[in-house]
Amino acid sequence: MRLFTISSLLLLSLASVSNASPKLENHECKACHPKIYKEYQSSHHANSSIYKDEIFNAIWEKHPAKAKNNFKCAKCHTPSDHALMKDPSTLAKNEIQMTEPISCQHCHQIESVEKHTKSNKNILTKKEKTFFASDPEKKGTKLEFKEKRSFFGLFTTKIGSPYHDIDYSNEDYYTGNSCMGCHSHKQNSNDFTICDLEVKESEGKDTCITCHMPQVSGLMANQKVTKTHAFHSSSALISKPALLSKYILLDLKKADNGFSVTVENKANHTLVPHPLRLAKLRVTIERAGKTIEIKPKTFVKVIGDKGKPTFPWLATEIIKDSSIKAFEMREVTFEEKLQKGDRVTVEFGYHIVNPKISKKLELKDKSLSKFVILTKKQFSI
Ligand code: HEC
Ligand code: HEC
Ligand code: HEC
Ligand code: HEC
Ligand code: HEC
Repeated sequence: MRLFTISSLLLLSLASVSNASPKLENHECKACHPKIYKEYQSSHHANSSIYKDEIFNAIWEKHPAKAKNNFKCAKCHTPSDHALMKDPSTLAKNEIQMTEPISCQHCHQIESVEKHTKSNKNILTKKEKTFFASDPEKKGTKLEFKEKRSFFGLFTTKIGSPYHDIDYSNEDYYTGNSCMGCHSHKQNSNDFTICDLEVKESEGKDTCITCHMPQVSGLMANQKVTKTHAFHSSSALISKPALLSKYILLDLKKADNGFSVTVENKANHTLVPHPLRLAKLRVTIERAGKTIEIKPKTFVKVIGDKGKPTFPWLATEIIKDSSIKAFEMREVTFEEKLQKGDRVTVEFGYHIVNPKISKKLELKDKSLSKFVILTKKQFSI
C-alpha cells in the first residue's frame, strides 16, 4: 500500500516535471563559457519574452493578435521555445521563456537569412552541435575536436571544443548579416513597415558585431587561454552605454545669432529607430553660477493613420521622421546667445519609452521612461 502511494506520487511528479520543463539548451554552454554565459543573462536576448520585458508585455496585452491567441512575435522574440514556434497558441510561462528565449544555440546556428518583405527569416543548420563563429585566421575552415599526442604520448594538446564542432566558413558571422533575420525590418498587417533599421552599406570596417559585441577582457572558454572574448550583453542600457558612445560625436559652433550643435552618427543604421523610443538632445548653460536649461530637441519617427499617431498595428503612414540616419551629420541650431565664460553641456540620449506612450501603456517601471544619456560633452566658451 505504502509502496503504491510512493510510486504513484513519483509518477505524478515525473509527469508534472516533463510538462513544465522543456529541454533547455544553454546550461551546457555554461560549464565551458562561464563569462559569456553570465553576460548573456543581462542581455536583451535573454530577456525578450513578455514575462521578462514589461514593455513588450504591455504592447502584447493591447495587440489584436492576443485576442486570437496567435503569438506571432515568437519568430524573433522567443524562437527557442520550439513548441510555441510549432503552435503559436501555446504561449505559457516556462523556463525557456524565463531564461533563454533567444538561446546561445539559436544565434550560433543561423545558417542563412532569407529576405522577405514582411520580415526576414532565419534558416538554422540541421547539423547538431555545429556552431558558426568568425575568426579571420581560420576563415573557411571547420574545427573538430582533436587530441594530438606527441613525444611518445607523454603530452597531449587539445584542439577545438570537446562538446561541439565550429564552422568558420559562414560569411554572415563576419559581416553581421546573421543579426538581420530579426533586426532588419517588420511590416504590420496593412503592409506598412513599422520599424526599419535602414542599414547602409559602407566601406568602413565596423559591423553589427564589432560595435555591439566588441572584444572585452576575460576568457572566451575555460579550456582556451584568450585575453578577451566577444561581449554578449547586447544592450545599451543594462550594460555599458560607454561602449557605444564613441560612435556618436558631438560638436558645438558659436554663431552671431546663437549657436549650433552637430550630432554625427557613425553607425551604419538609423539611431534609435524603434517607434516606442524618443531620442533627445539636451543643452544646459552654466553662466555666472546659474544653470540655464534650453528646450531640448527631439528626433523621432512617428507612425500612424490619417495624420494621427496610432499603435504600430494600426499604422499606415509615416507622420513625421526626424530620426538621424546612418552616417548622417545633423546640425541643430539654438537661438540663445553664448557669452564668454559660459560652460555648455550637451547630452545626447533617449527615453526607452517615449513618456507620452509610457502613460498610455500604464507602465509600472518608471525608469523605462527616464532619460538615458548615451553621450555627453562639455564646451567652454
Ligand atoms: C566541454 C566544453 C564546452 C562546451 C560544453 C561548450 N563549448 Fe563552446 N567552445 C569550447 C572550447 C574549448 C572552444 C574553443 C575552441 C578553439 O578555438 O580551440 C569553444 C568555442 C566556441 C565557439 C567559437 C569561438 C570562436 O570564435 O572561435 C562558439 C561559438 C561556441 N564555443 C559556442 C558554444 C555554445 C553555444 C555552447 C552551448 C550550446 C558551447 N559552446 C558549449 C568548449 C565548450
Ligand atoms: C522580425 C522580427 C520581429 C518580430 C516578428 C517581432 N519583433 Fe518586436 N522586436 C524585434 C527587435 C529586433 C527588437 C529590438 C529592436 C530595437 O530595440 O530597436 C524588438 C523590440 C520590440 C519591442 C521593444 C522592447 C523593449 O524592451 O523596448 C516591443 C514592445 C516589441 N518588439 C513588440 C513586438 C510584438 C508585440 C510583436 C508581435 C506582434 C513583435 N514585437 C514581433 C523584432 C521583432
Ligand atoms: C544574438 C546572437 C547571439 C547570442 C544569443 C549568443 N551569441 Fe555568441 N556570438 C555571437 C556573435 C555574432 C559572435 C561573434 C562572432 C563569432 O566569433 O562568432 C559570438 C561569439 C561567441 C563566442 C566566441 C567569442 C570570441 O571572443 O570570439 C563564443 C564562445 C560564444 N559566442 C558563445 C555563446 C554562448 C555560450 C552564448 C549563450 C550564453 C551565446 N554565445 C549567445 C552571437 C550570439
Ligand atoms: C532571433 C532574433 C534575433 C537575432 C538573431 C538577434 N537579435 Fe538582437 N534583439 C532581438 C529582439 C527580439 C530584441 C528585443 C528584445 C526585447 O527587449 O524584448 C533584441 C535586442 C537587441 C539589442 C538591444 C536593443 C536596445 O534597445 O538596447 C541589441 C543592441 C541587439 N539586439 C543587437 C543584436 C546583434 C548585434 C545581433 C547579431 C549578432 C542580434 N541582435 C541578433 C532579436 C534578435
Ligand atoms: C559603428 C558602430 C555601429 C554599427 C556598425 C552598428 N551599430 Fe547598432 N548602434 C550603435 C549606436 C551608437 C547605437 C545607439 C545606442 C542605442 O540606441 O542603444 C546603436 C543602437 C542599436 C540598437 C538599439 C536601437 C534602439 O531602439 O535603441 C540596435 C537594435 C542596434 N543598434 C542593432 C544593430 C545591428 C543589427 C547592426 C548591424 C546591421 C548594428 N547595430 C550596427 C552603433 C553601431
